[in-house]
Amino acid sequence: MRAPSRLLLLALLVLFTAPPVTARDEIEDTISLLLARMTLEEKVGQMTQLTLGAVSRSKADSTNPDGHRLDLEKLRQAVVEKHVGSILNVHAMAFSARHWHSTLNQIQDLATTETRHKIPILYGIDSVHGANYVREATLFPHNINLAATWNPELVEKVHAVTARETRAAGIPWNFGPCLDVGRQPLWSRFAETFGEDVHVSERMATAAVRGLQGNSLSAPYQVAATAKHFLAYSNPHSGRDRTQSLLPERYLREHFLPPFIRAVEEDVQAIMVNSSEVNGLPVHANHNVLTKLLRGRMKFEGVVITDWEDVRKLHELHRVAPSVREAVRLAVEAGIDMCMVPNDFHFTDNLIALVREGLIPEEMLDNPVRRILRLKHRLGLFEQPMPDPSLIDEIGREDANALSLQAARESLVLLKNNGILPLSQKGKILLTGPGCHSLAALHGSWSYTWQGADEKAYPPSLDTILEAFNAGHGRDNVLWARGAQWDGSTDFDYAIRKAQNADAIVCVLAEEPSTETPGNISDLAMPQNQLRLVRSLATGKPLILVLLESRPRLITEVAGLCHAIIYAGQPGPHGGAALYELLTGRLNPSGRLPFTYPRSPHNLLPYDHKYSDTIGRDAEAPGFHPLYAFGHGLSFTSFEYDNLKVPAAPLAQTDRLAISVEVTNTGQRRGIETIHLYVRDLYASVTPPVKRLRAFTRAELGPGERRTIKIELPISDLAFFGPENYPIVEPGEFEVMIGNQTAKIAVE
Ligand code: BGC
Repeated sequence: MRAPSRLLLLALLVLFTAPPVTARDEIEDTISLLLARMTLEEKVGQMTQLTLGAVSRSKADSTNPDGHRLDLEKLRQAVVEKHVGSILNVHAMAFSARHWHSTLNQIQDLATTETRHKIPILYGIDSVHGANYVREATLFPHNINLAATWNPELVEKVHAVTARETRAAGIPWNFGPCLDVGRQPLWSRFAETFGEDVHVSERMATAAVRGLQGNSLSAPYQVAATAKHFLAYSNPHSGRDRTQSLLPERYLREHFLPPFIRAVEEDVQAIMVNSSEVNGLPVHANHNVLTKLLRGRMKFEGVVITDWEDVRKLHELHRVAPSVREAVRLAVEAGIDMCMVPNDFHFTDNLIALVREGLIPEEMLDNPVRRILRLKHRLGLFEQPMPDPSLIDEIGREDANALSLQAARESLVLLKNNGILPLSQKGKILLTGPGCHSLAALHGSWSYTWQGADEKAYPPSLDTILEAFNAGHGRDNVLWARGAQWDGSTDFDYAIRKAQNADAIVCVLAEEPSTETPGNISDLAMPQNQLRLVRSLATGKPLILVLLESRPRLITEVAGLCHAIIYAGQPGPHGGAALYELLTGRLNPSGRLPFTYPRSPHNLLPYDHKYSDTIGRDAEAPGFHPLYAFGHGLSFTSFEYDNLKVPAAPLAQTDRLAISVEVTNTGQRRGIETIHLYVRDLYASVTPPVKRLRAFTRAELGPGERRTIKIELPISDLAFFGPENYPIVEPGEFEVMIGNQTAKIAVE
């Protein structure tokens, strides 16, 4: 037998030692080839995102949203002449899935037939709580309600449905989840957060990104997610949206950054930038945040998108740039990839001019464009740019509807019950308050319209609370009187007269839906006319207060007048049914507050405040005295804890902390208990908070059932951000708290 030739040996060597060519490499090679052929204008076009309104004819009216029409001339100018690579948003209000398909077909048809490189458009939308701009889609409770369920598995499922229904409408990119941590209760977007605690926000961030993106972005039921708004948007000093945050570096890293780290770990495909300024620096111009931190330390490889018109605002509002052109330079140099311009070509034209003038090297655009093209590839848009008509039936499926009902049920928090609930199945109930007959109040913002306040935009098939009570309790047994309206008007006399014939009064106070700047308030109190309605109904008859609100509006002055209080937040389309079930005892409530419910306007401290924050005048006026504590929530059964076990020997920094506790359902009903593990670092070099939530889990127990709950976490999870602003665990004693059980552990 002849010896193999040297050439053959070499070929075999190459075959067995060269790394295999992966799909990833192939995509990168394709992108490189494409990039090499793209002109400057084409690259800048990919970095440009316009709103649908900029390429549409006049707005459709609410009686005929599908009357919206693209302006084909404007669309051609954008996509063909200006090479625009991305479009966002709805026009005026939610379209039907069919109208989305026909709109996207026209857009993609133009992009993939009449442009030189046939690059599909990347369409993005705010599916904030369900695919809320698709008329037939399933809407869900807002994030603050999802956080109140303390159920990350449920949150993942909810986001998976959101992805499925958004994609089925033909839209592959969602501007969510919102991972801002809700530590400023005045903020108009509080309901979009998962509450005040960073650990809860981290767990929900992971769940939400997993649900949206799944395992394969090109699958017909997933979308690319956008973690927003990076970084520290949710803590405006004034409480008003898009105003400055003043945050010490340590506090910022400890309480606002971690959910974004979790999202990047889950391979989130995009990050949207915070519109406002932090410590005097607008984030859109902050290279330290967008490049050093996000790309360098966090290793984020996806697309960084600006928020709405925020590059221009670097000049016009924040005044860090003396011209719009300079604003464009600052933002691109800081590290944005795509600009949500969104109405014209100021970004596009100025960026081209900056490169031509030699102020920005053209190569600097290659990475942003590569990342955008990569996302289009991953989403499968090059193979299948058009919406798939067969997916329309996936929207609004019965299982999705059932999931929305489950989420609403699990999100209701029973704050107070002096024994009046559950209500007897017999007797007449008066429903009153501005929220009792309003779909808008149940849904909140980002519902069919941006603000969500247009009652006519809601599908008539949905039930208000009143309609849910009529269906469940029988029309003859339900009375109603609005009593107070959002415009400040009142009709107390009518409500009082009706109350005379009722056995129980359910007063649904509600915040008018709003978000962003239109939602700014300067008084956290529930509007006065609504509080007065409660007073006028407090005659001794069972009075149950239901709160539909996007943030904890103060109700202290009437809380004592009510026999029961339910925080319902913005529970979505099935809020009415879920509330009816809770009030009549068909549902045993399990929601727990994911935020501290304040008692007074100038004491908005979170649960994990410092010891010095607790200093008060005396026992009557302590420094920290919320109306309802973070984690609070009652049940129709009761739970008891005992036998907390923690390791007796000191633990090393690399150890895991294993804890167990027994939980018993001591009442008469099956119920769900959320087990919170708090840890208190007794002494630390940075003043320790009074306690921190370090883990949580849920257990469903039948009457009399007892279960051992085991929680295990690495010691590194007990870290705080030390004097150098990095997480550290200092040796010493810690107190572990679960329910009424406490125990000490030591770390070496
Ligand atoms: C909001 C973003 C949103 C964007 C697009 C902005 O005003 O701040 O959260 O994704 O609009 O609608």
